[in-house]
Amino acid sequence: MTEAAAAPVIAIDGPSGSGKGTLAERLAERLGWHLLDSGALYRIVACEALDRGVAVDDAAALGALGRGLDIRFDDATVLVDGRDRTRDIRTEAVSAAASGVAALQPVRDAVLDLQRAQRRPPGLVADGRDMGTVVFPDAPLKVFLDAGLEERADRRHRQLLERGERVDRDDVLAALAERDDRDRNRDVAPLRPAADALIIDSSRLSADDVLAHVLAAARKAGLC
Ligand code: DC
Repeated sequence: MTEAAAAPVIAIDGPSGSGKGTLAERLAERLGWHLLDSGALYRIVACEALDRGVAVDDAAALGALGRGLDIRFDDATVLVDGRDRTRDIRTEAVSAAASGVAALQPVRDAVLDLQRAQRRPPGLVADGRDMGTVVFPDAPLKVFLDAGLEERADRRHRQLLERGERVDRDDVLAALAERDDRDRNRDVAPLRPAADALIIDSSRLSADDVLAHVLAAARKAGLC
């Protein structure tokens, strides 16, 4: 086994607004591990497609687009073909397009190796929808973080307002529900907990509570 393949992975999956991004960041920082935000990859393909006028349902063209991009994560900065796209990939328009793009097999194939290449010592915290089911099925700890739709919509709404995007909370809820439905019911790599995932409902938990819970599970699994 290569050194990289032997590096442990903590897979964190769940719907938008469940708090998995925050959990993954804090966990990676606490453990001193690498961090993979896999949703950013689908957002990047969607954002580039919108900019270049590639139809967001043209599976072959989007797969080719995904394979051809030079994607780099430099701390919190996302560089695509040398351009800073950190903010561009977080708009509501890109969120909507990313959910459609992520349902296409050629796009998922295009970003698979890139995701697995992030597995390096001392370990990787991988945040997404199919980290535990498809990308890292041998991860020694898999977490599925969920929360009620209303709570998730409130969190996402607050996040968008903080970023200066003026959006109506009910529109955010409707868009979130639609994306979730698509992510859960698509044919390829649907959002669902792995059979051996630790399922946590964060609706009534603080970010600190969730982190403590997952750190306890990581200790129990001998990961820290
Ligand atoms: O986590 P996010 O909101 O940044 O993800 C953007 C979109 O990409 C979302 O619709 C789900 C999809 N996604 C996916 O299908 N598989 C992943 N591993 C991560 C995200």
